[in-house]
Amino acid sequence: LISLDRITALAHQTVRLVICKGDRVVDATAGNGYDTIMLAEEVGPEGRVYAFEIQKEALCKVAESLKQQKLDQRVTLIHSGHEYLLENIKEQVSVVMYNLGYLPGGDRQVTTTYDTTIESFKQALTLLKPGGIITIVLYPGHKPGADEKNNLLPFCQKLDSSKYVVLYNRLLNQDNDPPELLVVQKKLFYTELSS
Ligand SMILES: C[S@@+](CC[C@H](N)C(=O)[O-])C[C@H]1O[C@@H](n2cnc3c(N)ncnc32)[C@H](O)[C@@H]1O
Repeated sequence: LISLDRITALAHQTVRLVICKGDRVVDATAGNGYDTIMLAEEVGPEGRVYAFEIQKEALCKVAESLKQQKLDQRVTLIHSGHEYLLENIKEQVSVVMYNLGYLPGGDRQVTTTYDTTIESFKQALTLLKPGGIITIVLYPGHKPGADEKNNLLPFCQKLDSSKYVVLYNRLLNQDNDPPELLVVQKKLFYTELSS
């Protein structure tokens, strides 16, 4: 059973629909590692998760959790901003997950920002294999999160509909600007040659 107001759980269920064992996937905002661990379980021992995080302390804790759960061999932890996806990943991936904002329980000043998020998102589109998806959990209740939403939505609306499908999940009857989920899929039968 899933409660639909748990937007991060909805993101997890959505990526599970797409991931196959052995896949290459990205966690663009590793934070406390919940998404990284779920992805590592889903791709299996032959798969690979690339996980980005700018806060070294957080990344060390994720490394520890992965080791405890014997998932560390499937994960490449990258202490870098996700705006450097292409410098760090040289293969196509089936999923890129973003859980934007700040680290729960951490410094709220260290947050994702619309300029680097958009730059990363553009790179993620090029890394995505046909049929693959990008999930983005948005937090419009704080100013940097509202800026990300206000930049990402128009950008996604303009994506070529012959190449991409964009789904926008929003809770309509909740107060205080609740989180939202954007899902972008590269169409299955689209290849660079056919454009
Ligand atoms: C909401 S938290 C992510 C939660 C995480 N996915 C989890 O499962 O625990 C957002 C994270 O993004 C990180 N972050 C901020 N800017 C970033 C950037 N440019 N590249 C990668 N991570 C960034 C923050 O340090 C923070 O830990």
